[in-house]
Amino acid sequence: MEHMDGLSVEGCEQCGDLVASRSRIVDGVGPADAELLFVGEAPGEREDEQGEPFVGRSGTVLDDALRDAGLSRADVRITNCVRCRPPENRDPTSDERSNCRPYLDREIDQVDPTVIVTLGKVPGEHLLGRDLAVTSEAGSIEDVDIEGTTRRVLICVHPAATLYDRSQRETFERTIQQAADLAGDGGQVEL
Ligand code: URA
Repeated sequence: MEHMDGLSVEGCEQCGDLVASRSRIVDGVGPADAELLFVGEAPGEREDEQGEPFVGRSGTVLDDALRDAGLSRADVRITNCVRCRPPENRDPTSDERSNCRPYLDREIDQVDPTVIVTLGKVPGEHLLGRDLAVTSEAGSIEDVDIEGTTRRVLICVHPAATLYDRSQRETFERTIQQAADLAGDGGQVEL
């Protein structure tokens, strides 16, 4: 994505630990006008190698669920709260998330998605600004103010959570189908 407003992620060195652990900065991918924006936690090993979010095992789970919902990776935008791989794939700290937040806010502003889908607890709490019980709240939709604009956020479990737990897989697939349906009808929620 082009970087506007003089805010360039290229060569970013805001987070000392992450500068040391990353091989590259992993930006969001997908159409700059996508209706669905998926937000994960941070790049893992594969993402760090290939420079693209969700290309490892979690990415396969996401791709499969998108396909089952009638979508493909090329239809949606995929990004992370933090654009550099944390050491040992630990969760990004709140400082790291704050340091990276301007890049995420700008991406949200530029893509202007109908629905933001948070993949897992970390991105859910980061964008909603509250504690989240992600498994029981998956499928809930919340409107949240992001940089002065109301954004529709759909809470989803992380695809990695589905790898060893069949019930999480069902929850994940149901939520991705819900995202596809919301995108199809412009984000309207039946009350
Ligand atoms: N997990 C994430 O949260 N993001 C990725 O890009 C890969 C795995």
